[in-house]
Amino acid sequence: MGKGNIYKGIQTTAIHAGEAPDPTTGASAPPLYMSSTFVTENVAGFSAHDIGEDSPYLYARWANPNVAALETKIAALQGTEDCLCTASGMAAATAIFLTFLSAGDHVIVSDVSYAGVAELARDTLPRMGIEVSTVNLSDLEAVSAAMRPSTKLIHSESPVNPILRLTDLKAVADIAHAGGALLSCDATFASPLGMDTQALGVDLVMHSITKYIGGHGDAVGGAVAGSAELIGRMRLEAAIHHGGILSPFNAWLISRGMSTLPLRMKAHEAGAQAVAEWLEAHPRVTRVMYPGLVSHPQHALVQAQMSNTSGMIAFQVGDVAAGQAAAQKMIDQLQVIHYAVSLGHHRSLVFWMETAGLMETSFRLDPAQEADYRAYAGDGIFRLSVGLEDAEDLIADLDRVL
Ligand SMILES: Cc1ncc(COP(=O)(O)O)c(C=O)c1O
Repeated sequence: MGKGNIYKGIQTTAIHAGEAPDPTTGASAPPLYMSSTFVTENVAGFSAHDIGEDSPYLYARWANPNVAALETKIAALQGTEDCLCTASGMAAATAIFLTFLSAGDHVIVSDVSYAGVAELARDTLPRMGIEVSTVNLSDLEAVSAAMRPSTKLIHSESPVNPILRLTDLKAVADIAHAGGALLSCDATFASPLGMDTQALGVDLVMHSITKYIGGHGDAVGGAVAGSAELIGRMRLEAAIHHGGILSPFNAWLISRGMSTLPLRMKAHEAGAQAVAEWLEAHPRVTRVMYPGLVSHPQHALVQAQMSNTSGMIAFQVGDVAAGQAAAQKMIDQLQVIHYAVSLGHHRSLVFWMETAGLMETSFRLDPAQEADYRAYAGDGIFRLSVGLEDAEDLIADLDRVL
């Protein structure tokens, strides 16, 4: 666990890291600090460059007690020296790209990733003179072949949204580091409990904390965890200069949600395992992808790399017409599961993701890459985020619509 973490267990860390009773009032729960500025006794120092590790609070875009507490908690659980929280998961991805890439640099991005990240990499980065290669990161030869002298970053996602393909992070970290590049990993689907990213050699771990870390579907935020040196550079550029900071209220809500993360991840995993096994046995379901199933194409890697297989399932029900019909039935008839985007909440969520549409709007893969995507997803998949309801109620709900 993170530098300076004094707790032995992950549940104690999730509850207490970054928090202490309020010295003024004795409040056991953290007070919410909405102040945009802080009264200071410092005479000088108005630039972000004047901030040191022990500087007092000065202005909320630089630092805020609730955000700082959440950053400490995430770093402690992720096992990193430091963490930077951002306004959203997309702001976290943007923070990584814009801090560590400049015009003339090359970045390798997973060919399948969260749609927003795929579109940002394809449409925005080249406009800034950054060269982008989209590569299937589960193909290590392709990763090695894509490396250039100018490659500064490999950005992975594991398991990948929406098809739950894994990246062998240790192997890709070795390739990145041999070429002088950093490895970042979007671990939103896995949560901080899913992988020991430090042991695997990941330099920057990002999360949409809107998802498992917050866990209750009521606050948007992002985070990047890593060494004090890398996070310090990001804090200066992405937070203080680009300004994409997390609001104190969202930090407060997400911190509260994070206190139960280890317990919730166990329950997400158990519920998803039960639902995935039921789906796999269902006659109308043609394919299920869940890291906890032995049928997952990278089962050996799952066992080597993941300590919690999380709550995300992708499944197919046949061709595009069958998928669309099932999606309509879900919209009309589901009673427990919400038909909605997003994931990682206590409420279960399901959403139909048609392959043709995703190819056109987000991924624009070449024919070989598209064939690989279709080997997982066919004409389309349902992305199911298994919440914390009883598995029997979720299964009854799915049985109604399949
Ligand atoms: C894997 C992954 N990364 C990043 C994001 C973006 O996060 P946010 O919606 O908090 O900006 C998402 C959103 O769904 C996601 O699933």
